[in-house]
Amino acid sequence: MSDWEKDSGPIVTEQSWRRDFWGLLWESRSGFVPWEKILKLGRSTQEIVEEAFFLEKRGYTLELSPVLGIRLLAPLPDIFCSREWEYRLWISGVPWVTGVAYPVVGSTNEETHRWAEKGAGEGFFVLADAQRQGRGRWGRGWQSPLGLGLYGSILLRPGWEARQATRLAIVATLAAAEAVEETSGQRIDLGWPNDLFLEGRKVGGVLVETRTQGAALQEAVIGLGLNVRQTEEDWDEDLKPVATSLASYVSSPPRRMDLWIAFLHRLYRNYHMDFSLCRARWEARSPMLQRLVRIESPREMFVGMALGLSELGELNVQTVEGRVYSLGPAAVTRVRVTESGI
Ligand code: BTN
Repeated sequence: MSDWEKDSGPIVTEQSWRRDFWGLLWESRSGFVPWEKILKLGRSTQEIVEEAFFLEKRGYTLELSPVLGIRLLAPLPDIFCSREWEYRLWISGVPWVTGVAYPVVGSTNEETHRWAEKGAGEGFFVLADAQRQGRGRWGRGWQSPLGLGLYGSILLRPGWEARQATRLAIVATLAAAEAVEETSGQRIDLGWPNDLFLEGRKVGGVLVETRTQGAALQEAVIGLGLNVRQTEEDWDEDLKPVATSLASYVSSPPRRMDLWIAFLHRLYRNYHMDFSLCRARWEARSPMLQRLVRIESPREMFVGMALGLSELGELNVQTVEGRVYSLGPAAVTRVRVTESGI
């Protein structure tokens, strides 16, 4: 049985010493881990040295001293390595430690659906350095240049009612905003249902794709796209006025691995939290509320006052005639604040 077929929870396999070795290096914060401590992992010196070489090949910088031991030097490379995520997620109490990272995929959402069909369990995730056909809501694309953004998707099997699916977009966008804030110090605003804004420009988005069986939510894939290192010239012309990246605001943007780990940590917590608490936190981050918004749907466009979120995560909007509607993402292509009422 391979790792992803097991129930979620820390992977305890014959390979777990590799995770623990990585943990020793990580916890010593650039200081040497003495041989005495390393050898307590119960592996031979040769196996340890081979593992150190493997990590070096992946891009980490290690120093081996016959006397002092081994140390991991900063800065850490901007790569996805299972040794790192297994240890860091496990130590922070997140049981979603199993995933796979590809250099390039069509779409991490699509790839995650594929793993789900093969029986992957709750919490299985897919990361990629680039996407050929990154997708956004309503058939829009998501520009995914190599190594410049975070592109990741996670499979959840919430066992909720299908009508509660919109809650996932709320839970996940909140987690993404909190993760960006924690790792970069930048304040992130939220737009319903899935937008992350940095000073009014789009810095990320979440795409939730679900499969239902009758009234039950059988499977949900949550995809997160974050613009990390893009600069002005990386955007297509039409995106230039509306898109931004973390690198446009901080001199040293976070590693994608740090962002993903922080995201899973927050997502795990928010997902298990009472939804009314998530809803309140989401609303506190949305400059859209109590303002006039322009709602676009495939059939019409209208203006109303955004009041807040329903208990299902829909957007409550009051029209000029005073009627209040709860709108789900399936009915709305785009929502934007409008000052003029058009
Ligand atoms: C949106 O703003 O419309 C949502 C964009 C979501 C993009 C991410 S990138 C990772 C995952 N894989 C995809 O194909 N899309 C999501």
